[in-house]
Amino acid sequence: MEEVVQKKRMLSGIKPSGDLTLGSYLGAIKNWAERADEYDCYYFMADLHAITVRQNPADLRRRTLEQLAQYIACGLDPEKNTLFIQSHVHQHAELGWALQCYSMFGELSRMTQFKDKSAKNADNINGGLFSYPSLMAADILLYQPDLVPVGEDQKQHVELCHTIARRFNGVYGDVFKIPEPFVPKVGARIMSLTNPLAKMSKSENEDTGRVLVMDPPEVIMKQFKRAITDSDTTNCVRYDKENKPGVANLMTIYSACTGKTYDQIEQEFDGLGYGAFKPKVGEAVVETLRPIREETLRIMKDKAYLESVYRDGAQKASYVAEKTLRKVYKKLGFVAK
Ligand code: TRP
Repeated sequence: MEEVVQKKRMLSGIKPSGDLTLGSYLGAIKNWAERADEYDCYYFMADLHAITVRQNPADLRRRTLEQLAQYIACGLDPEKNTLFIQSHVHQHAELGWALQCYSMFGELSRMTQFKDKSAKNADNINGGLFSYPSLMAADILLYQPDLVPVGEDQKQHVELCHTIARRFNGVYGDVFKIPEPFVPKVGARIMSLTNPLAKMSKSENEDTGRVLVMDPPEVIMKQFKRAITDSDTTNCVRYDKENKPGVANLMTIYSACTGKTYDQIEQEFDGLGYGAFKPKVGEAVVETLRPIREETLRIMKDKAYLESVYRDGAQKASYVAEKTLRKVYKKLGFVAK
């Protein structure tokens, strides 16, 4: 008899609270696309998470669909990956509620993202912002994944997901699989071009140091020409993350776009300085993003196709999610429907 080997499962999501950046592509989606054959993959648009901060409804709708088109344009084949919109799979909100009851006030209060966002949105510190990690734990645990690739900034949330899952399993037996956070090394953290100590963010409007996946070439070139290098006067392209974070970030970007190593990059720009280096990075980024932008625009016009992708995706996701939710409800003592 033929042996069927169950593929390991992988899951991740991105909030459509801002337009995807070069950082989202290099740091996340590009790595996901490379794993489609090895893993059984689930990726979603985390629209339920987006509303923890006030959104303009028309923008949120546009960004959610555009994000799906971008996932596909970045190489996530809907035939091989389950792509869905979080709010289409009602089990997320349901398990999210249940897990709030297994998340402690103290734990949620200690999340750095909650503290940061509360400081930035002092007039809207809502319950959703606070219990965000419980919903995120539900997103993960519903699918029993082996691996959850996330950016450095989300590691704390995945760790809390572990705590919640263990607490739940401790009471009710082995309900949830405990997933591993997985922070990809290369391009894990693309920093702002104007503040290389902060992540290139999609959510903050004030971040001028970012490049969007949909930016046209001239905008990208302008951003790289203005990029901060460093304050020393060596004018030397050398990888030194500690002392030259701006240059290091540009080297990471260049390396991710061209496949060159840091050594090769240092040699390439030996004696040439930042003035020559910055536009070269810009050009590499332009060429990396060009096919993605064009493909996204093409897919966005095909509404029927997009709809078929997210409907199929939600159906597949829902099938898996429902199994877990049923099990949880039974354990909790809810009467079966
Ligand atoms: N919180 C993540 C972010 O801000 C998005 C997200 C929501 C997520 N649920 C998730 C990521 C589950 C991984 C797994 O980017």
